[in-house]
Amino acid sequence: MPRQLFVTTALPYANGHFHIGHIMEYIQADIWVRFQRMQGHQVHFVGADDAHGAPIMIAAEKAGKTPQQFVADIAAGRKPYLDGFHISFDHWSSTDSPENHELAQSIYRALRDQGLIEVRPIEQFFDPEKSMFLPDRFIKGECPKCGAKDQYGDSCEVCGAVYSPTEVKNPYSALSGATPVLKTSDHYFFKLSDPRCFNFLENWTQDGKLQSEVANKIKEWFTKDEEGKGGLGDWDISRDAPYFGIEIPDAPGKYFYVWLDAPVGYLASLKSYFEAGGPKARYGETRSFEQFIADPAVEQVHFIGKDITYFHTLFWPAMLQFSGRKLPNQINVHGFMTVNNGEKMSKSRGTGLDPLKYLSLGMNAEWLRYYIAAKLNARVEDVDFNKDDFMARVNSDLIGKYINIASRAAGFIAKRFAGQLTAAIGDDGQTLLKALQAGQPAIVDLYEQRDMGKVLREIMLLADRVNEYVDANKPWELAKQEGQDARLQEVCTVCIEAFRLLSLYLKPVLPALAANVEAFLKIAPMTFGDSGKLLGAHVIGEYKHLMQRVDPKMLEALFEPPPAPVVEAPKPGGEDIADTITIDDFVKVDLRIAKIVNAEHVEGSTKLLRLTLDVGEGRTRNVFSGIKEAYKPEDLIGKHTVMVANLAPRKMKFGVSEGMVLAASHADEKGTPGIYVLEPLAGAQPGMRIR
Ligand code: MSP
Ligand code: ZN
Repeated sequence: MPRQLFVTTALPYANGHFHIGHIMEYIQADIWVRFQRMQGHQVHFVGADDAHGAPIMIAAEKAGKTPQQFVADIAAGRKPYLDGFHISFDHWSSTDSPENHELAQSIYRALRDQGLIEVRPIEQFFDPEKSMFLPDRFIKGECPKCGAKDQYGDSCEVCGAVYSPTEVKNPYSALSGATPVLKTSDHYFFKLSDPRCFNFLENWTQDGKLQSEVANKIKEWFTKDEEGKGGLGDWDISRDAPYFGIEIPDAPGKYFYVWLDAPVGYLASLKSYFEAGGPKARYGETRSFEQFIADPAVEQVHFIGKDITYFHTLFWPAMLQFSGRKLPNQINVHGFMTVNNGEKMSKSRGTGLDPLKYLSLGMNAEWLRYYIAAKLNARVEDVDFNKDDFMARVNSDLIGKYINIASRAAGFIAKRFAGQLTAAIGDDGQTLLKALQAGQPAIVDLYEQRDMGKVLREIMLLADRVNEYVDANKPWELAKQEGQDARLQEVCTVCIEAFRLLSLYLKPVLPALAANVEAFLKIAPMTFGDSGKLLGAHVIGEYKHLMQRVDPKMLEALFEPPPAPVVEAPKPGGEDIADTITIDDFVKVDLRIAKIVNAEHVEGSTKLLRLTLDVGEGRTRNVFSGIKEAYKPEDLIGKHTVMVANLAPRKMKFGVSEGMVLAASHADEKGTPGIYVLEPLAGAQPGMRIR
C-alpha cells in the first residue's frame, strides 16, 4: 500500500523575496518528497505565502500599495526561484485565500465551543497619530536597563536586556514618531494553560515523534522557574483593527493574530489544491479535502526552521487537537543556513548568497542541492555554505567520483559498439553491481530519516568502488589491445550499469541530471523499484556532457558585493558651488538687515516691486526687486530682510536702485514664483551687519 503524505514547508512571509534560508528548507523538503515519490508513495507537497500581519501591512503602506497588491507582487516573483532550484511543489496558495479565511474561522469556533477562548482586557501602547495599537517592534525608546537610545520595545541591542514595551523610557512610535499612549482593549486568548491543553501537549510532544533536541527544548518551555514564572501561558490570538488579517467571528474590529491563521494556511493550501482537482488528476483521488485530511492513514509532515518551533510544536497541535482535527505526524526542524563561516545575517535579508544571482551567473542549481544535502542531517544543526568546501565537494565528489564514471565508459560503447551494452558480465563485474544493489536499503533508510549527508557518503563510497573497478580494468588500455573487444564492452557495460544505479540513488537530490541520464540511457524514469534488474543487452543513446565543474571565478562573482551605484554628486539647488573665495573677498560684500517700510507695484513692469528699505541710516533706500509674481506688496510691508548695502547704485528704467535684496531660488526655476526672499529670525534690527 502506498503511503499518503501531505508535506509542507513553512509559509514564507510575503514581505520579501526568497533568500538562501528559504531555498535550503525547500531543497531539504523537496529531496525527501522526491524520494517518497520514487518509492511509489503518494505525495501532496504544498506551500503558500504568509500574507498577514502588521509588518506586511506597514510595508505595503510604505510602498503605496494595498496589502493585497503588495503580497500579490511578491507572490508573482516566486516562480524563478522554485523552478530554478527544481522545487517540486504541487500547489502554492496564500493565507489570504478564501479557504484560509473559512478554515481559520471554523477552527476558532470549535476552540470557542470547547471553552478554550477567553476575552481579557489588556493595556497596550497605541499610536494616537496612526490610530492603531503598536506591535512591540514598532515601539522604540530608551533601554530601561542601560539607557541606550533608539532601542526596540522588546529588547536592547546594546546591553541585551529583554523587557516589555511599557518599561521603555521616553517611548515613541517608529511609525509616526508620536508618543504612544497606553490604551485598554479586549483581547482574545487561547487558554493553553487549561489542564486539557497542558496535559495533551505534555504527552504529545514527549512521545518520541519529535527530534530529541526539540522535545528537550519543549520540556524547558513547560517548566516553571522557582518564582513560578514561565510554563505554558495563554496565547493572545487577537489584534485590533486596522490589521491585515482574518476577522474573528462575532468580534467586530478584531482580527486573528497572524500566527493563528498562518499554520491553518497549510490546510487551506491543500484544500485549494483539492478544489483545483490536483489529487484527482494525479492519483485518481476521489475523497474530498475534509475526508482526506481526516483519514488516519494520511501522514501530515511539516518541514520548518528552528526559530518557529514553538508555534509548530505547541500552538499548532493544540489548535488541531481541540478543534477535533487530526495531528501532524512529523514536525521536522532544521537549523539555519549561514554563509562563509556563519557570517551574521538577518532573517529578513537572509545571507550574502543571493539565490537568483547564483542562477544568473550560470551556476548549476544541482551543485547547491548536492552541497546542501551533503551538509544536512536529521538534527537541528546550522548549515554553513563555505565556498572552498562547496567547490571541493562538487568538483571532487560529484564530478570527480560520479559523473566521470559515465564519461569514461560511454564513449567506447558509442564508438566501438554502436551503443550496445552486453548481458555477458563476468564475476568481478557481477560482484560490483551486486554490492551497489545491496547498498539500496541503507540509502533508502537514511533518506527516510532525512540523514541526507549520510546518504551521499554511502553513495560516494559505492562510487569509490566503481572507480576502483575502472582503475583495475583500464578500459582506455583495453581499447588499444587486440582481441579485447568483448572485455572492453563488458567493462564499459559494468560502468554504465553502475552509473545508472548511482544516478537512481542520487535522483532525489539531482532530479534534472537524472532526467538527462534517463534520456542518455534511453530508460524510463528511474524509481527505487527498478534497481534489482540490470539493463542487459540494451542500446543506449549518445553521451553528452552531463555537468560542468565549478569555476572559482563564479564563486568570486557570487560573493562580490554589488557595485555601488554610480551616483552623480547632486548639484545643490541645481548648480555647482561657486569657486572658493577668501574671507577678505567675503567681507567686501556688506550685507545688512533691512526693514521693508513700503512695497508697491511698479507701473509698466510685470516683474518688479519697488521696495522702500530702512537700513538704520536715518534715511530710506529705494530698491527694485524682481519678486512681483511671488509676493503681494502688502505681505512684505513691515518684514525684515537682508540686502547688499554697498552695491553700486544702478540706474534703471523706473528709477535708481540703491542696493539689492537677497532671495533664494533653484537654478532651474530662476525668477518667480520659485523665489524666496530672505527673512532673519526674530530680533534682528535694521542696519545690523551679516557676517
Ligand atoms: N511566516 C512564518 C512561517 C509561518 S508557517 C505557518 C515565517 N516565515 S519566514 O519567511 O520568516 O521563514 C520561513 C522559513 O524559512 C522558516 O522555516 C524559517 O525558519 C526559515 N528560515 C528563515 N531564515 C533561515 C535561514 N537562514 N536558514 C534556514 N532557514 C531559515 O517564519
Ligand atoms: Zn540596554
